[in-house]
Amino acid sequence: MSPLRAQQNALLRWGERTRRDLPWRSTRDPWAILVSELMLQQTQVARVVPKYLAFLQRFPDAPTCAAGGVGAVIELWAGLGYNRRAVNLHRTAVQVTEEHSGVLPATLPELLDLPGIGPYTARAVLVFAHEADVGVVDTNVGRLLARWQGSGLKPKEAQALADRLVPAGRAWEWNQALFDLGAGVCSARTPQCDDCPVHKWCAWQGSGPDPAAKTFATGSKQSKFAGSDRQGRGRLVDALRRGPVSVVQLPEVMGWADDHDRAHRVALTLVTDGLAIQINDELSLP
Ligand code: ADE
Repeated sequence: MSPLRAQQNALLRWGERTRRDLPWRSTRDPWAILVSELMLQQTQVARVVPKYLAFLQRFPDAPTCAAGGVGAVIELWAGLGYNRRAVNLHRTAVQVTEEHSGVLPATLPELLDLPGIGPYTARAVLVFAHEADVGVVDTNVGRLLARWQGSGLKPKEAQALADRLVPAGRAWEWNQALFDLGAGVCSARTPQCDDCPVHKWCAWQGSGPDPAAKTFATGSKQSKFAGSDRQGRGRLVDALRRGPVSVVQLPEVMGWADDHDRAHRVALTLVTDGLAIQINDELSLP
């Protein structure tokens, strides 16, 4: 058996034994996969599970979502953060309904043409809905690939390596195993190399400088949330989920009672991004 085959088999066997039972792993519906992938970007699995189930109950397909309106999607996005993803998801639902008869396309260029769908999300749909033989590289997978081969990887290099490693016909389980390995055993800060199914082929093996440090942000935190514009935006969207907010209330609602200019400036970015509308002196969800 070639060394590559041995590594693939070791990880696939480990994946079968340890695979987390997550709701988006028991479907091949492209719409459901897209919803899960957008929710999982920057949001933890445990937080996503109930939101994912509730979302699909309300919007089981793109046409239902398109018809439901962007405001309803933003409401269902509560607790997930990064609300622009909700706006993009609704825009995608509209475009899919109008241009693809309500069914997500199944090619990379067509998926990339949809709002908010980048290389990662497009490939995730191809693999997890259509079982296409491509690699899916998120931050965790990028980190473990860099460690595995022992050098920093630019995004294009990581993608090429990920594609090369996929065992033919088994991309679905392979990529799920990589996600699980990256999320647990090969974590950013406390890798558990003793538990790793591919330890003996790993160039790094947990000692010496971490090759992933030069690649994907390992251990570097997201920019600070407290005091950020993002925090004020989040507060305002949370308030709008409960009901309209008048312009005079903005500074207080956004946590900047003594900085009216900032409150108004940042509130305007929500309108520009499609997360809020202003009618007369009142803001509301679109
Ligand atoms: N993150 C992104 N996609 C995922 C998946 N399918 N399973 C677990 N975590 C993920």
